[in-house]
Amino acid sequence: RELTRCAPLVFAGEVRELHDHLSKACMGQGFLLMGGDCAESFDDFNVDRVRDSFRIILQMALTMTYGSGKPIIKVGRMAGQFAKPRSSGIETIDGVSLPSYRGDNVNGAAFTEEARTPDPNRMMRAYHQCAQTLNILRAFAVGGYADISRLHAWNLDFVEQTKQGSNYRAFSTKVDESLRFMKAIGVDTSGPKFRTTEFYTAHECLLLPYEQALTRQDSTTGRWYDCSAHMLWVGERTRQLDNAHLEFVRGIGNPLGVKVSDKCAPEDLITMLDLLNPSNAPGRVTIIVRMGAEKLRAHLPSLITEVQRAGRNVLWISDPVHGNTRTAADGITKTRDFGKIREELRAFFDVHDALGTHAGGVHLEMTGDDVTECVGGEVSGITDDDLSKNYKSHCDPRLNGQQALEIAFLIAARMRRSEGLPPLDFDDWAECDPLDSQCTPNNMPLP
Ligand code: PEP
Ligand code: CO
Repeated sequence: RELTRCAPLVFAGEVRELHDHLSKACMGQGFLLMGGDCAESFDDFNVDRVRDSFRIILQMALTMTYGSGKPIIKVGRMAGQFAKPRSSGIETIDGVSLPSYRGDNVNGAAFTEEARTPDPNRMMRAYHQCAQTLNILRAFAVGGYADISRLHAWNLDFVEQTKQGSNYRAFSTKVDESLRFMKAIGVDTSGPKFRTTEFYTAHECLLLPYEQALTRQDSTTGRWYDCSAHMLWVGERTRQLDNAHLEFVRGIGNPLGVKVSDKCAPEDLITMLDLLNPSNAPGRVTIIVRMGAEKLRAHLPSLITEVQRAGRNVLWISDPVHGNTRTAADGITKTRDFGKIREELRAFFDVHDALGTHAGGVHLEMTGDDVTECVGGEVSGITDDDLSKNYKSHCDPRLNGQQALEIAFLIAARMRRSEGLPPLDFDDWAECDPLDSQCTPNNMPLP
């Protein structure tokens, strides 16, 4: 009741704007970049952290825009990503069993009975944190921070000394030159397109009481929107056709995502699309593929072929992280390998290129923070032994800022290749597939 009296966090007009962008991406004219924490938390919240993740996503998006020549739709896994699905309702440590941690808007992460007892007041605290996060994001998006002429100013200290640092500098210089050229031919580069950006939010639609309380009827169209985020997705564990989650989301006007692993049968995917998108509107449904590279090569083609046969409009994006979680050498810590993430992305692009469909986006667990949660990457050099240095996630491991930017450069280079565009002179992948982990800039012949 208290939540139903709270102001909406996002507005129907913004949601429709995002839907428009997604429908273009669905037709091949755009690419969706979703990124953020696995789980937001009360303790880790601060303004700098929100800013750093926003900045990395912005840098990634600009890199990919420049590389691919396509608009990149920026969606933060932020301002609402609090509830976590668990494979088991109970966690047992040293013979003591307690309810699993289900995210800060349900219970606490500490392994005590008190912390693990669900408390509905946590939803109010989450709501207020979301309101603050959105306030910061909106201010950064339109208040001058995102001005494209500040591209150099977003260069991070750690980026300076690295290979990506030099790539990023070369890229910023190219953008500066393009801006100078545009100005010279009379384009007004001081307008809002150059000074502001559009940034949207999304989270897993899991905790239905929270979502329902924030669902409101739009006064201009009479449609219902879940005003907790612009986009909502249903997770791999709750997407059953007769489950409450699909029943809830089919009634809201927001663009929807559905996560699918190799366990999704092609005919079930079509039934799901019938349920969620009876009018077959492009941009309404995004399928977030998370299978691991090998299974993806084996299963994704049949899903795509069935969707094509049924004439359904779907935006396909890759979540290359959730099929690639493993236990680190210490036997406890959860981690992911950069190389595996790269392999899954490569498989995703290969399958789409082979079928002539659009590899339409990427969904990443990442942060602008300098964490040590995922292993590898050309510059990070993080190994299993380094994980304890700065491991902060209460849930799944995230790519740090460096690793995320590296992924963006690789995707940008691969998008150019898939489009048949020549490599940019500051990328090193002229001779092979940038997403092939055997293909490193060092063993490339010089052009
Ligand atoms: C997640 O995105 O954090 C998640 C739990 O994903 P999935 O539903 O794909 O397992
Ligand atoms: Co996760």
